[in-house]
Amino acid sequence: MDLLILGGSWFVGRVIAEDAVGRGWSVTVFNRGRSATPPEGVRVIHGDRESAHDLARLAGSGPWDAVIDVAGTVPTMVRDAARALRPATTRYAFVSSVSAYAGWPAGPVTETSPLHDGDPDRSDPEGASHTYGAMKVGSEAAIRREFNADRFLIVRPGVVLGPHEYVGRLKWWLNRALRGGPILAPGRPDRPIQPVDVRDLSAFLLDQLADGGSGTFNVAPPADRSSYRDLLVACLAATGGRGELLWIDDEWLAGQDVRQWTELPLWRVPPGTWAMDAKRATAAGLTCRPLAETVHDTWAWLSAGGRAVDHERDAEHGINPEKERELIDRAETEGAVRSRERLPA
Ligand SMILES: NC(=O)c1ccc[n+]([C@@H]2O[C@H](COP(=O)([O-])OP(=O)(O)OC[C@H]3O[C@@H](n4cnc5c(N)ncnc54)[C@H](OP(=O)(O)O)[C@@H]3O)[C@@H](O)[C@H]2O)c1
Repeated sequence: MDLLILGGSWFVGRVIAEDAVGRGWSVTVFNRGRSATPPEGVRVIHGDRESAHDLARLAGSGPWDAVIDVAGTVPTMVRDAARALRPATTRYAFVSSVSAYAGWPAGPVTETSPLHDGDPDRSDPEGASHTYGAMKVGSEAAIRREFNADRFLIVRPGVVLGPHEYVGRLKWWLNRALRGGPILAPGRPDRPIQPVDVRDLSAFLLDQLADGGSGTFNVAPPADRSSYRDLLVACLAATGGRGELLWIDDEWLAGQDVRQWTELPLWRVPPGTWAMDAKRATAAGLTCRPLAETVHDTWAWLSAGGRAVDHERDAEHGINPEKERELIDRAETEGAVRSRERLPA
């Protein structure tokens, strides 16, 4: 396979590039060469996808069996890349997001659930609260307009974790587990959680491209396979941390001054947060490794000096230790600690 990756040097794109090189594919990555070094074994073409000239030059360097647009979020940029590269590729794949669904995270979603309103010809955010999701929908629409149904592949992952993750969600929990002591464990221990390992997302995408698959797929492990407790237990096991998990009532915690999703990473109360149906992808061959393996490998990577690309979202994640301690104390006083568990036992 001859593959072109738009991006390919930060996280998802980087892991896809490594995976494809490992399969013996011929891999080209296109980026500005500003922020990170792409993996070994790829052909690098530098350019800016916002430049029509650079896109035309890129198209002239083809053809490819497939293009993967990994990190597109602005519909007009995705549209312009898809249009410029259409003559140079057989297939076009796009990494979208669960955020495309209008009903997420309020309720469960399947591939046929309603989407946000997205316009393929918009380049600016479409409303304060749903910007990212609407922009992904607009980007998807741009690809559907440029490519026939048998030539595009759209994946909508939920949360993606694993080595090279730059958002910093798992990194924060791992470092928290390492520090040990009393740990504010949000909500119910058995709350389902379904982040996908970046390597499983990559394998699914590349397998689909190799097999001629097309269409739109949610990408996540089954919702009932892992729990929030599994995540925290795996973080303690991976880091060797010793801690006491204090499971604090969701409703109580949601009433405090705590930013859901970021201050306590991966915690958010709407019932659909972790209720993505990915049966279509599973039937098409998606396999997801155990969450503990993702946690273990991410810690191994960090411990070996692995460093994700600098990203402003990293700083949004985590709660400061004084605030955590203060919340635990208050939860104890107000009877909001539902259960506690010392680990390792
Ligand atoms: N993290 C999650 O939990 C999650 C969940 C759902 C979906 N997703 C989706 O997963 C994807 C993550 O992608 P990633 O950031 O890891 O991809 P990536 O391909 O590894 O990195 C982004 C690449 O884009 C390049 N780039 C940025 N601006 C550019 C421009 N103007 N022209 C050319 N290249 C440019 C960057 O290099 P240079 O800066 O050197 O140009 C970099 O190589 C996104 O689509 C995200 O929406 C993530």
